[in-house]
Amino acid sequence: MFSRVLKPVTVVAAQNGAKNFSTTSQRNFKVVVAGASGGIGQPLALLLKQNPLVTQLALYDIAPVTPGVAVDLSHMDTPAKVTGHKGPEELSAAIKGADVVVIPAGVPRKPGMTRDDLFNTNASIVRDLAKSVAQNAPKAILAIITNPVNSMVPIASEILTKVIINLFTPKIGALSSSCGIPARCTKYQLLSQSQPAVKLTDQGKIKALTERIQEAGTEVVKAKAGGGSATLSMAYAGARLTNSVLRGLKGESNVVECAYVKSNVSEAAYFANPVVLGKNGVEKNLGYGKLNAFEQELLKAAIPELLKNIKTGEDFAKK
Ligand code: APR
Repeated sequence: MFSRVLKPVTVVAAQNGAKNFSTTSQRNFKVVVAGASGGIGQPLALLLKQNPLVTQLALYDIAPVTPGVAVDLSHMDTPAKVTGHKGPEELSAAIKGADVVVIPAGVPRKPGMTRDDLFNTNASIVRDLAKSVAQNAPKAILAIITNPVNSMVPIASEILTKVIINLFTPKIGALSSSCGIPARCTKYQLLSQSQPAVKLTDQGKIKALTERIQEAGTEVVKAKAGGGSATLSMAYAGARLTNSVLRGLKGESNVVECAYVKSNVSEAAYFANPVVLGKNGVEKNLGYGKLNAFEQELLKAAIPELLKNIKTGEDFAKK
């Protein structure tokens, strides 16, 4: 009941006819980072420049420093060719022919900013980027980091029907392979399914750890004394997800990652749990497995908020 095969969302391997007759898998991929000059974007680009599967790395941002970020990275002795693209007039060139587009573009929440301010700004950014992907790289796979993800994914999904969006956020190393429901207020780690197994029986400790994971973003903001939010761990999460998507595209089997994707595993139209990535993007949704009583309560409590977030995104996209 909780797992179903999703329709193939992208067909990346068949972009040129010759590849259909080739016995070798595609191993040359173009990856775009949109929002590449930011706190997440720069370390994300640095990690992707070291990925042997990435042959072309296009950095897009509205910040004037962007061509410089590309020149800086191009001095690394790894094979990926790096290009810099600054401002909307250079967006199409950045996106053209992309296999994967990772989006950390947007504004982080700043003091005095309401949730609505943040939503409207970031929603417009994600909408415009998704439109460009639809026009210039309709087969590309999207990975969205921009907050609030619960709403950003439905926006992009509405705009680009062949979209898959993933957000994988291993906030605490030991728990990185477990999955939860994404984004603050609706995010919970399924500790009962963590690998390696979390051997906790004390309910108080389980509750405390659950709350700590839920507040992981705030933990970083506090530790940075108001001087920034989570950027490096987010960059790592984005790079890890991108690598898994590329491994799937090149034909590797059994590539499993957590992803927030359109699905019917829960009452909500989008949900985060393990999925199998393959040549067509999300090949199979593995569902969220068996929940214990504590986790069932968490899910029940999260669903109304998640439904609201999804509707907000879908309504914005329809405007
Ligand atoms: N197109 C492309 N890039 C843009 C656009 C746009 N329309 N608008 C803003 N950007 C760029 C900024 O120029 C900046 O370089 O996005 C980058 C954002 O970087 P930061 O402000 O440093 O924010 P960061 O901490 O990286 O977070 C980005 O990820 O986790 C979320 O909540 C976070 O939504 C925020 C996003």
